[in-house]
Amino acid sequence: MPRKPLIAANWKMYKTPAEAKAFADAFLPLVAGHTRDEIALFPSVTSLATVVEAVAGSNVAAGLQNMHFAEEGAYTGETSASMLKAVGATHTLIGHSERRQYFNETDHIVNKKLHTALKHGIIPVVCVGEHLHEREAGRTSDVICAQLRGAFEDITAEAAAPIVIAYEPVWAIGTGKTATPEMAVEAHKVIRDQVAEIYGIEIASALRILYGGSVKPDNASDLLCQEQIDGALVGGASLKPDSFAAIVKY
Ligand code: 13P
Repeated sequence: MPRKPLIAANWKMYKTPAEAKAFADAFLPLVAGHTRDEIALFPSVTSLATVVEAVAGSNVAAGLQNMHFAEEGAYTGETSASMLKAVGATHTLIGHSERRQYFNETDHIVNKKLHTALKHGIIPVVCVGEHLHEREAGRTSDVICAQLRGAFEDITAEAAAPIVIAYEPVWAIGTGKTATPEMAVEAHKVIRDQVAEIYGIEIASALRILYGGSVKPDNASDLLCQEQIDGALVGGASLKPDSFAAIVKY
């Protein structure tokens, strides 16, 4: 079964609800009828309901950039899985490197969030990737595999099926330095092999692995035409409707 690519927009801490609505109004006609790839927008929490409403009935899904692992409780500033679902969102990012870097998100927390997302039927996009010093020390595979093993702890093969992985080398995020297609393919193979080791070949071959890190309209097709690359997680270039549509239609 061929894997259906997922092209996702991570808006990070950009866009008010009005700006998110304006994006959707301009973007949806640009990708109307596009069925080759799945498309998802990840706005900030205050724009999520607006985006869900704006994309309703279209070929575009909406998700959150982060979600708490607890069902509910005294966790000031956090958003639960039920809240995400009640608004009508279907996806969540988990373990983005910015959350790992600035909000102390560990592999253990990523694992807890992944358990919760799967329990609630939310499609999780789990982000992994190495820092520059780790790549330069030849530790890329070790770092990625440790992140994967941590994320998947006590998650069964049956439960793991909906998981999407995003390979985002930290040195490529927001820097304009994209991994070459060869580097990305090599990392994606490491990820698929590690998942095969944990869950077997069937789950591993169905697993979608996205690339993220300075994906732009002019480098999207070089990356996305690779058999190992099943989509993209786009930051900066997803903020403008025409630029993100050009990536979707690479
Ligand atoms: P940029 O596309 O801005 O490099 O961001 C990538 C990213 O972090 C997506 O999650």
